[in-house]
Amino acid sequence: MNDWVYTEKVKEHFVHPKNIFKEDEGFVSDGEGMVGNIKCGDQMMMLIQVDKDKNIIADCRWKTYGCASAIASTSVLSEMIKGMTLTQAFAVTPKEIMKELGSLPEHKIHCSVLGDKALRAAINDYYEKSGMTDKIKKEEAKIICQCMNVTDHEIEDAVLEGARTYLELQERTKLGTVCGECKDEAEKLLAGYIQKHFN
Ligand code: FES
Repeated sequence: MNDWVYTEKVKEHFVHPKNIFKEDEGFVSDGEGMVGNIKCGDQMMMLIQVDKDKNIIADCRWKTYGCASAIASTSVLSEMIKGMTLTQAFAVTPKEIMKELGSLPEHKIHCSVLGDKALRAAINDYYEKSGMTDKIKKEEAKIICQCMNVTDHEIEDAVLEGARTYLELQERTKLGTVCGECKDEAEKLLAGYIQKHFN
């Protein structure tokens, strides 16, 4: 089978994932994040325990119905973030997870985005529960294509899923298919996201 192109480290984290949430373990969380869509089978839950004196992530658990890549990348992420400050953990990028994991097939990279999105949701949930609402950072999306209602986040996701040209971006998002006025901005973002994630 030549589609089994995962590295040993990816396989190891897939077969023996770390910090998986178990119902009977009695893990008490300080913050909880849930992202994704159960209908697509890619839902992700992340639970964090915070050391409030040091403001660091003391422990975490996660659970997903996602694919092997989502499992391996979230397993690695869950090991990376222990001991990080909340600010450091909030800033972890898919690229850093990939580096730690020793890479994934390129079309699978978007699977790793779920774990860090759920982590940011869990950190925001912790801030909310502990009355630090001023620290909550929203991931605000900006609409780039008004006609088709496509945001910068959707463009970034399309890049992570493999879009490299404006045409491929259009095929995935339908952006630019009405008046075409969004083309310049979309092309700039496309180049920027490719640079951010793959160079
Ligand atoms: S703004 Fe994108 S097609 Fe009109």
